[in-house]
Amino acid sequence: MRDILTRARAYEQSENVGRNPTDNPTIGDVIAERLGRRDILKGALGVAAMAATVSPLALAAAGRAHAQSATRYRFDEIEAGVDKTHHVAAGYDADILIRWGDPVLAGAPAFDPRKQTAATQRQQFGYNCDFLGYFPMPGAANPSHHGLLAVNLEYTNEELMFPGLKRQDVKGVLFADMTKELVDIEMAAHGGAVIEVRRENGKWQVVANSKYGRRIDATTPMEITGPAAGHARLQTSADPSGRRALGMINNCAGGVTPWGTWLTCEENFHGYFNGKLPDGHREASNHKRYGVPGNSYAWGTFHDRFNVTKEPNEPNRFGWIVEIDPFDPNSVPKKRTAFGRGKHEGAAGIINSDGRYVVYSGDDQRFDYVYRFVTNARVDRANPKANRDILDDGVLSVARYNVDGTVDWLPLVHGQGPLTAANGFASQADVVIARRLAADLVGATKMDRPEDVEANPVTQKVYVILTNNSNRKPDQVDAANPRADNRFGHIIEMAPPGGDHAAAQFRWEMLVRCGDPSVAGVGASFSTDTTRNGWFGMPDNIAFDSQGRLWVATDGNSKSRTGRTDGLWGVETEGPGRGTSRHFFRVPVGAELCGPCFTPDDETLFVAVQHPGEGVSAGEASTFEEPVTRWPDFKPDTPPRPSVVAITKRGGGKIAS
Ligand code: FEO
Ligand code: CA
Ligand code: CA
Ligand code: CA
Repeated sequence: MRDILTRARAYEQSENVGRNPTDNPTIGDVIAERLGRRDILKGALGVAAMAATVSPLALAAAGRAHAQSATRYRFDEIEAGVDKTHHVAAGYDADILIRWGDPVLAGAPAFDPRKQTAATQRQQFGYNCDFLGYFPMPGAANPSHHGLLAVNLEYTNEELMFPGLKRQDVKGVLFADMTKELVDIEMAAHGGAVIEVRRENGKWQVVANSKYGRRIDATTPMEITGPAAGHARLQTSADPSGRRALGMINNCAGGVTPWGTWLTCEENFHGYFNGKLPDGHREASNHKRYGVPGNSYAWGTFHDRFNVTKEPNEPNRFGWIVEIDPFDPNSVPKKRTAFGRGKHEGAAGIINSDGRYVVYSGDDQRFDYVYRFVTNARVDRANPKANRDILDDGVLSVARYNVDGTVDWLPLVHGQGPLTAANGFASQADVVIARRLAADLVGATKMDRPEDVEANPVTQKVYVILTNNSNRKPDQVDAANPRADNRFGHIIEMAPPGGDHAAAQFRWEMLVRCGDPSVAGVGASFSTDTTRNGWFGMPDNIAFDSQGRLWVATDGNSKSRTGRTDGLWGVETEGPGRGTSRHFFRVPVGAELCGPCFTPDDETLFVAVQHPGEGVSAGEASTFEEPVTRWPDFKPDTPPRPSVVAITKRGGGKIAS
């Protein structure tokens, strides 16, 4: 039987997605020096030693008792597992807020999965919701009860969206029988949405026909700003100016700025391109490094700009962090090139002690890098509009993790070090357009798929989420990526000196190596207070509540991989409970959990349930006609619908308190 692979799995497993070809430090000779005795004793070895003398049941019971006392998370853990629906801790409600196809624009038609058109989809909530950013409504009586929700709409699952498609080999486009009509629906289902939301009588609702309602898709006009704006490598036949892009694609995670804008990050943009670059083209090494063309979608068959034979520069207009004013539905989104181009996961930021804004981001690929951007200007807190363009000017750098527990931020600045014309970098535009190639040259540390990178606003520590990397060989392990065949990922904690996020050097240590701690060979390092429900694999998106507690969402768990679906876990970072993880919410079969986002009062936790019902491995085909779940509607002939969920405590109160 032919392997049935989903789009997400295809990205993960494909060899041709822009592999890092350099030999930057994976330093095979510094094995695990940084892990330290305490870490090892508390981790797999500790659990294995205990398990030898204590029954598993007693171990789990002891774990529960400890976990209650040692962590700041107050809730009864749910059971890890896999079924057709979602589960939340007892005493909480998890209510569907908005689903794929629900109205976003005033007057949008009702959803009918058998009568989709691009015109209807453009007015409705798109597919595969990901990042969520909450913006309190200015002047609201209660800012935690009324606001805007900005939502990324990352990608599409044709097999679940459209009836009757025939899948073909994953090495080509996934579906051979896509039509222009279907591709145009897909393009309308990508991008993002802004919805107005309000909590009344305890329950959240989308405000119907709101003047703020907005859909952004793969055709929305955008402005390109910063050092690459107007550069020849961004010019196309449709846009000789190199400053006017159409649309954003594969927007994964993001960030919310203190001046009230939404940062939304283009991730796996390579998959939308088809064709073959002419031999000897100047973009050859650049496109190869990013895996362009990825041939995951059929868009290039119907739209020349997604065919690199015809428009070799169009891929350079994607892979950016986009800034959007959610309060002005007519504002033009801006692709901020100063951050550089990559498969960005998120763009979480923090105001530094000196007032500059610092944004962290991962480039989600096996063996790719962790980045930081520091604005030159200070944030003007009194006048939000004064910060409108400060993200166009600053210093980009990339992380090198050293075995002595330091991490160096290596500047990616034209003219510094190897970033000169002789090496193909004639200006900062070249540096940001081919950021991966620039980072290769300066010797950054190749990481195990860097996803969210986010600063804890209470402790100032920065967390780097590495999702997994089954391609890492034993001779490629290094201090910061200590496991070969790293199937379950890990979380690194970085400490800026004196809370200075702009410093040239931080310190780092391992918070947790993920996976099942009861399997010694996995090498997981959760605290021994973590129960059998509490551990997880494949961390991805994170959030902090206002107490500074860390919440981790996962992407990639399944029955066959970990015996559980993806979900949300609270992971203690402080005190004696450090490294203890507790299971709060889980998604239906096939889904991943994205976008955890708290209201300022911590009483609501919004989450995005992405790709429910997506088939996960050979023999688990899931289609429009026969999906593995019809969550959340459970109606015959209605396919599963990616949805945003609002979690609140029954009777009120802060989450997990
Ligand atoms: Fe869209 Fe890196 O996950
Ligand atoms: Ca993600
Ligand atoms: Ca995703
Ligand atoms: Ca992911």
